[in-house]
Parts: sequence; structure tokens; C-alpha cells
Amino acid sequence: MKKRILTGDRPTGPLHLGHYFGSLANRVQLQDEFDTYVLVADVQALTDNFDNPEKVKENVLEVVKDNLAVGVNPKKATIFLQSAIPEIAELTVFFANLVTVSRLQRNPTVKDEMKQKNMQESLPLGFLMYPVSQAADILAVKANLVPVGEDQVPHIEQTREIARSFNKIYGNVFPEPAARVGEMPRLVGLDGKAKMSKSLGNAIYLKDSVEELKKKINKMYTDPTRIKATDPGHIEGNVVFMYLDIFMKNKAMLDSLKDDYKKGQLGDVVIKDYLFNEINNFLTPIRQKRETISDKDAMEVLRDGTERASEVTRETMREVRKAMRLL
Ligand code: TRP
Repeated sequence: MKKRILTGDRPTGPLHLGHYFGSLANRVQLQDEFDTYVLVADVQALTDNFDNPEKVKENVLEVVKDNLAVGVNPKKATIFLQSAIPEIAELTVFFANLVTVSRLQRNPTVKDEMKQKNMQESLPLGFLMYPVSQAADILAVKANLVPVGEDQVPHIEQTREIARSFNKIYGNVFPEPAARVGEMPRLVGLDGKAKMSKSLGNAIYLKDSVEELKKKINKMYTDPTRIKATDPGHIEGNVVFMYLDIFMKNKAMLDSLKDDYKKGQLGDVVIKDYLFNEINNFLTPIRQKRETISDKDAMEVLRDGTERASEVTRETMREVRKAMRLL
């Protein structure tokens, strides 16, 4: 039997290049080798958007389309909706006994997000425990491998701890899943901030039009010490060059651009033009594929996937309840 993958996305906006390099590229690459499950995590999205259910709803099909557009194949991968799987909520309740509040408060990703969302003052319980619910996402299908961006690694560690302690107390039911971080574990934002993120507003979306892409690249940070194009430029910490390092295949060409830039012979407008072309070439086939997918198509994929996932999670819960001596 094939080993299983589970990964997922919060439907709080369209997916961006950070998602692509962190996780989407890996799910496409691994979907032949693994029995792959892709979760649209609408319940988790509500943990920090409970007062904005429309936003979550609107983005469910967007996220399905983004997955399909980059090449997640619904014949190989099961794309499914978290809120339609009550077994995940049930498992979350059982797992909540196995985790301490202080352990959750030490989770570095939860800490970062609390700071970013100003939750230090009043922290919703649902938000604090979303890593527990994420462990339930992963273990409800008994996944062995979880392709994720670097920021999610603490959650996978938490998941392993939960699996270990469940198995020890109730008997061996769950695998201890491993994280698989993308080749580019963390893509910096357009503003040079550590992480590309929807909520920071510094992201290039997979569905961005040519015009939107152009606008975003024009606003991108370069070298703040440089006043005129003839001043010597810096490559270190220059966001445009960080991206060119990723997207420009012709390394000899890139090296010569860097040389000219350092000598003050190349303006920001020119290097941004190069970057625009590279990213646009990368996004064009994704955009084209996305245009062929209707809401109805995406809905059908999600419905089929949810049915398949539901069978798997129901089977897991039979084992869980038996192990826990529940009726
Ligand atoms: N927390 C993930 C994110 O914000 C989304 C997610 C939900 C997930 N459930 C998951 C990722 C299970 C991996 C496995 O992107």
C-alpha cells in the first residue's frame, strides 16, 4: 500500500508564491508516489476569521482552483473540505486531553501569529488550539508525510507528540508523520519581510494578472542606500535579486546583471523588468490552466474528494474509539 500524504491550506485568500515553493510544488511532485490528501482547512481558517465567515466561504473554491492550476491532479490526489468531516472535530476533542496549554503557548508559529494579530490581550481558545486540530487533520487520514512551508514545522512536531502519546496510552493507532519542507522553505515578502503572507499584504498570488504582477514588482524593495541609478548597488538583502536567484535560470546572465548593478551601471527599472519576465513566464501556464476551471468543476472535485476522505476518516475513528474503550 502507498504511504499517505496530508497537507492543506487555509481558505483566507488566494494562494501565493510562498505556498507554491513551500508546499504546492512538493504535493504535485509527490502525488504519484503517495496517496495524497489535500485539505481545504475552512474550520482552521475560522480560528482567526470567526467574525468573517463570508471571506472563508468565498475562498474555498479559490484554493481548490489554485491547487488544480499548479497541477494537483484530482485523479491522484483527494482534495477535501475540513468542515464536511466531523471526524476531525471529534478527534480534536480527544487529542485536546493530550496537550498542555503551556506547550501550545510555546509553539513559535502560534506566538508569531498571536503577535501579528494582536491576540496577546485576548486569545481565543480556538486559536490557541488550532495546532491540535491540525494534528487531527493529519492523523485522521493516518498520514506519514506532510509537505509544508517552514513555518508549519512546529505543528508537525506537535502532531508527532500527540500521536506518540495517544499510541502509548490507548494502543498503537497512528503513524508519527514527518514534515517535508519545500526546496525554498521560506520566500521573503515583496517588502523584504521574513515571510510572504496574505495578511502582511506582501504576496504575489498565483492568479495575479499581468497588470497586478507588474504593479507589485514595481513596488518591490531594492537597495535603500541607492539614490540614483548610477550609485553602486547592493545585492545582499535586495529583494529583487533574491527573487532573481530563484526565478532566473540563466545564471551567467544573472551574474553579469549583478556585476553591472554593483558598479552602478544598471537601474532598478531594468532589473525589475527582468524579474517581471521571469515570474510572468512562470505564472502564465498556471493562469491559463486556472481559466479552464469553472466553479462547478472545482465544486465537483471537492465533493468527490470529501466523499473519499470521509470513508478514510470514518475508518480511523472506528479504530480510535475502540482503542479508547468508547462505545
Ligand atoms: N496551517 C496551515 C497553513 O496555515 C494549513 C493547514 C491546515 C495544514 N491543516 C493542515 C497544513 C494540515 C498541513 C497539514 O497553511
